[in-house]
Amino acid sequence: MKKINVGLIGCGTVGSGVAKILMENTDLIRARVGADLILRRVADIDRKRDRGIRFDEGVLITDSYKVVDDPDIDIIVEMIGGEEVSRDMILRAIHNGKQVVTANKALLASHGNTIFREAAGKGVDLAFEASVGGCMPVIKTLRESLVGNRVKSMIGILNGTCNYILSKISDEGCTFKTALSEAQSRGFAEANPSLDVDGLDTAHKLAILTSLAYGMEINLHDIYIEGISNIAPLDIEFARDFGYRIKLLVISKNWENAVEARVHPTMIPFDNLLSNVNGTFNAITITGDAVGDILLYGHGAGMMPTASAVVSDIVDLARNILSGAKSRIPLLSYQMNHIRKIPIMPIDDISTHYYFRFSALDRPGVLSRISGILGDHKISIKSVHQKGRKSGGSVPIVMLTHIAREADVRKALSEIALLDIVSDRPVLIRIENENQED
Ligand code: HSE
Repeated sequence: MKKINVGLIGCGTVGSGVAKILMENTDLIRARVGADLILRRVADIDRKRDRGIRFDEGVLITDSYKVVDDPDIDIIVEMIGGEEVSRDMILRAIHNGKQVVTANKALLASHGNTIFREAAGKGVDLAFEASVGGCMPVIKTLRESLVGNRVKSMIGILNGTCNYILSKISDEGCTFKTALSEAQSRGFAEANPSLDVDGLDTAHKLAILTSLAYGMEINLHDIYIEGISNIAPLDIEFARDFGYRIKLLVISKNWENAVEARVHPTMIPFDNLLSNVNGTFNAITITGDAVGDILLYGHGAGMMPTASAVVSDIVDLARNILSGAKSRIPLLSYQMNHIRKIPIMPIDDISTHYYFRFSALDRPGVLSRISGILGDHKISIKSVHQKGRKSGGSVPIVMLTHIAREADVRKALSEIALLDIVSDRPVLIRIENENQED
């Protein structure tokens, strides 16, 4: 039986899951691959931790270099996380001609252009399915299944922590703080949870997907990011009254010479399947010109679901080695010489529907002053709602708009914020409708 040697660097939660699958499902994998995948070395600074795995003598070591430089190892699996050490280890593995698997979304979003160029130059494969959406095969879908499609849009939920928090507030009336600490204790949140709640983790994933979908360089810098910290229970309640749920979405649309790529809380109608994706689940709708809409759904985080995606990458690379295939699938889905710098549209240039909430004095003339300013900025109001929910001396006035341009909306809201009848910062939440024509 042929053997493929695997070296794992970083044996934390997901790394342990990968080791478990490779060691416990050995027969199953052999039957499917036609070779033995041997976990030859595992490097982690903590050798004492109980991982529920019995490694053979000498497998678990502390020195990652001994794994990356081992001439007998074919595939390096980077599970260290962080950006500096992991980047150096991956570049060293590439330099040593190893095939590489990583789940490191932050690293790929920030240093991916360099890493992929190095890998392509060296003719080694780098697989990263678990970097986006946990066990959902979104990378494989974009790189392989949709190869005949022009991707028109991608809209999805890619952060389990934020989805958990919003679901808990919405369905159980939990506070933000309680929901976040529950997500932390369940092990989904990043070590620094502001990466989750402020939207950066979601943007890392979107940066990777936009590159694969449209053949553009990875561009984290120009993605518009808004997190969920400012979402008030009152807005969740209003959203429900209008038939919407609030989700932290990635929204990306292909306008050919420019793309939209944004991360922000968004209202979506109940009949949009994404509005029923709750708790820590992730989902993404990808629209292609041939395929129409497809929806992927699954655990976006967690030890075994993420490890499942990592093992699928290991097997892909093992199959390439066994069949002598190199660089069979372009790393970033397009041939390197076809990857362009496609600009991401500034948020000011997007057009969508909006929900506004103003805290205003309950007096005659208030509505006409607000709507007058909106009209001056070409923003057409679809409906106005005022319910007796007093907060302080003010009442919430809620407006839903027809399609408007973000730049106009921002100018109008900053003028409205200065009115003496308005007591608080106006709230803006974008609405994503199936029917965006009006
Ligand atoms: N913190 C991330 C999340 C982990 O909550 O989705 C998976 O990338």
